[in-house]
Amino acid sequence: MKFSSLLSQYTLLSLLPSTLAYPGMGEQLSQLQKSPNKKRNSGELLGDLKTLSSSQLTTIGSDIKAILQGSKSAESSTIDQSIPAGNVGTAACKADLCCVWKWIAYEMTAKFNGTSGRCTKFARAAVRLGFHDAGVWSTSSSYGGADGSILLTDEINRAENAGLELIAEQTKAWYNKYKAYGVTMADLIQFGANVATVVCPLGPRLRTFVGRKDNARAGPTGLLPAETDSADKLISLFKAKTIDAHDLVALVGAHTTSQQHKVDTSRDGDPQDSTPGLWDVAFYGETLSSSTPVRVLKFRSDVALSKHSEAKSEWQAFVSGQGHWNSVSDPSPFDYAKAYTRLSLLGVNNINDLKECTKVLPPERKSFVSQDQVILNRWLNGEFDQLNDMVDNAVMLTGVTTGGKKN
Ligand code: HEM
Ligand SMILES: *[C@@H]1O[C@H](CO)[C@@H](O)[C@H](O)[C@H]1NC(C)=O
Repeated sequence: MKFSSLLSQYTLLSLLPSTLAYPGMGEQLSQLQKSPNKKRNSGELLGDLKTLSSSQLTTIGSDIKAILQGSKSAESSTIDQSIPAGNVGTAACKADLCCVWKWIAYEMTAKFNGTSGRCTKFARAAVRLGFHDAGVWSTSSSYGGADGSILLTDEINRAENAGLELIAEQTKAWYNKYKAYGVTMADLIQFGANVATVVCPLGPRLRTFVGRKDNARAGPTGLLPAETDSADKLISLFKAKTIDAHDLVALVGAHTTSQQHKVDTSRDGDPQDSTPGLWDVAFYGETLSSSTPVRVLKFRSDVALSKHSEAKSEWQAFVSGQGHWNSVSDPSPFDYAKAYTRLSLLGVNNINDLKECTKVLPPERKSFVSQDQVILNRWLNGEFDQLNDMVDNAVMLTGVTTGGKKN
């Protein structure tokens, strides 16, 4: 049947290690080089980097500057495989800045990694939480951004944050557990987004910086997008955050992993592409496609963006562009990691003083075998009631192999 052949194509694609070439890659690249849209505006600097001279920059400061300008990759595979220096709170652990973050990474990974091998609803929501804290900022804001305010104030209760309740509760619990060890809410939220991203199969491993300051003041209003916004509105909203249309197209690719709750509450758990819990590029093609499985709920904002003149060539390039969207090759100037790194630093005015703890993140997973694909396909095509947790937990392994409703 039509859907299954579509699906198996996507599954195949997602099985390709992201380091491998994919069909048509050469063509895509040459198209891009020719594309008039490749002109980019968002090498724009942020925060203190705008005023510091090169000679004043720390190693981290100059790396972040290069990432923002697209001359250095925002990804890293450097891993510290040793056990943490000591338990949290011990002198040995306190002496090592990244020690507490290593414990936090273990705890987050356990919550974010599903028994199906996909990333869980907590992971998906953690990525969105990272966006919703940092995104409350524009070049005309004097406060807001990646400052922890989404969870330190009542910002979380704003309508645009509906759906984030569970991750909010979980992140506050982590904060209460670790704040005595110098962990800020602002960092915890961005660290969570980065751990979540890399725990999702095929997700990039972003360089991860800590040292952001918290702000107990709720951020300005009206700066987060709505699912009903026009593409023009979305593009201008993000431009005001120094995020250009190409970066925006890369960022909304995070919906590849998503399962919506609030856009249509009668369809709680319905995914935005046929491979929820995977950081693949199926989302881009399926947003354009007219024949996606019934359970795939496309956001109006994504559909609008995919057709906009400033966005569509980039959207198209990601359709078969796992490596382009989410590359480990350095530098890959259009990709998700670069755009998210920028997002994660909005409103941060001490970028030059940040430190790096990328090494404590879990390793990337460059391939994924979908053991429960048969059941997943049936679910996507409308069988069973909302098997909301199926994406997280391998149903095949727990015995649901026949048709009909699952309660
Ligand atoms: C064009 C701008 C965007 C709009 C209009 C938008 C809108 C939405 C909406 C309506 C949801 C569903 C929430 C729910 O019902 O539970 C959602 C989910 C999500 N969004 Fe976005 N979004 C945008 C950009 C982004 C960006 C920039 C990121 C991150 C980089 C992001 C990451 C996510 C993730 C990971 C989810 C899934 C959450 C979950 O499964 O619980 N979105 N988004
Ligand atoms: C997540 O779980 C899968 C198996 O389901 C495993 O292969 C993978 O290593 C785990 N990831 C981490 C970071 O622990």
